[in-house]
Amino acid sequence: MKVGIIVHSYSGNTLSVAEKLRDTIAAKGHTATLERVSAVNEDPSAQGPVELKDIPDVGKYDALVFGAPVRGFSLTPAMTVYLAQLSTLQGKKVGCFVTQQLPFAWLGGNRTIGQMKNVCEAKGAVPTSTGIVNWGSKKREEKIANVVKKLSEF
Ligand SMILES: Cc1cc2nc3c(=O)[nH]c(=O)nc-3n(C[C@H](O)[C@H](O)[C@H](O)COP(=O)(O)O)c2cc1C
Repeated sequence: MKVGIIVHSYSGNTLSVAEKLRDTIAAKGHTATLERVSAVNEDPSAQGPVELKDIPDVGKYDALVFGAPVRGFSLTPAMTVYLAQLSTLQGKKVGCFVTQQLPFAWLGGNRTIGQMKNVCEAKGAVPTSTGIVNWGSKKREEKIANVVKKLSEF
């Protein structure tokens, strides 16, 4: 199976989880490719419309995992704009994960996963697994391992 792991990451946390996920999926015999979404202006305090710079094409993948940070209890603007511009996810297996600094999922993580699920469903795919990594949690490494395990099981 060709798996695309498509992430937005500013300070590298989400990217580091995605790298572990890519290696785990590849070790299971799939073709795993990590691609990054980025905006022309990546300043987290930037206001106004987002112009995307890197816009990965999902067409070549059988399965997709989308990953992004939580920002202001919501999905990052770049990932929001990226997901919105996808034409379809019909027929693809999809998973989603987020990283957030605050230690509990109810402090933005659940809401952000909900936003990702909604847009994936609107594009024709129901995410089969989702995960949240709380970067500020004492159990961070355990949470990363759980998310990687869950999202690598297609
Ligand atoms: C502008 C801004 C807003 C943020 N808002 C939240 C938030 O609402 N809840 C939270 O738990 N973490 C928040 N964070 C922390 C990030 O979600 C967290 O550090 C994440 O792991 C960063 O991922 P990255 O390194 O892949 O960019 C915020 C970070 C920034 C820069």
